[in-house]
Amino acid sequence: MHCAAAMLGEAGRSRVSGVDISFRPLAITDLENIVQWMLDDCVRRWWYPHQETEEEIRAEWEPRVRGEPNDEDKTDRYVVSVDAIDIGIIQTSDFADYPDHAAEMQIADAAGVDVLIGLPEWRNRGVGTALIRKFVNEVIFANPAIQRCTIDPHPENRPAIRAYEKVGFRYVRTFRSMVENVDIYLMVMDRPVT
Ligand SMILES: CC(C)(COP(=O)(O)OP(=O)(O)OC[C@H]1O[C@@H](n2cnc3c(N)ncnc32)[C@H](O)[C@@H]1OP(=O)(O)O)[C@@H](O)C(=O)NCCC(=O)NCCS
Repeated sequence: MHCAAAMLGEAGRSRVSGVDISFRPLAITDLENIVQWMLDDCVRRWWYPHQETEEEIRAEWEPRVRGEPNDEDKTDRYVVSVDAIDIGIIQTSDFADYPDHAAEMQIADAAGVDVLIGLPEWRNRGVGTALIRKFVNEVIFANPAIQRCTIDPHPENRPAIRAYEKVGFRYVRTFRSMVENVDIYLMVMDRPVT
């Protein structure tokens, strides 16, 4: 089913509350789930906008789930589980490890976050908002050097932008990323004052 039609079908779903959300590092046994999640229309549209094939997606994720050393890849990736059901991926990168990205973002002392819920039945029920909030507070801001967190949806990804607003991200600006070769609706959230 096309993504737009799927999203219409997802509207009005029952909200989810009181669930146990957890994050764990990727394992080789996650590879098939991850490839299937990436092939979902609503995920692929935003995570692989350049028409990458299933083989290309698999080739990109296989070394990641195997934990193979890669000097250029400093991103920390986790599987998200809700009540012990694996539903998607969340990842974070410290801008200090990606100077080209940091330069075009024009934000210092920051880390970025990317997320997807690969199982359609878990989208549009409030789970994304809850899991991003938990991840930002418990994982990203656990690093005292990180003063702010960014997230960079495509400007047309309305459900994502709405979810990020609910978490507390605020809009900064829209621009064309030369690093990623995509349009970015840049949002940022400052470390909470304690
Ligand atoms: C983005 C994502 C993580 C958000 O998680 P989620 O659990 O679906 O989000 P939530 O249910 O917490 O919030 C979604 C909000 O968008 C709203 N929404 C849904 N479709 C919408 C649309 N077409 N236009 C505007 N808002 C829309 C929902 O009503 C909800 O807002 P509300 O609670 O005020 O009613 C998830 O949808 C996802 O993984 N999507 C596919 C991959 C993706 O887009 N990843 C992000 C790339 S930046």
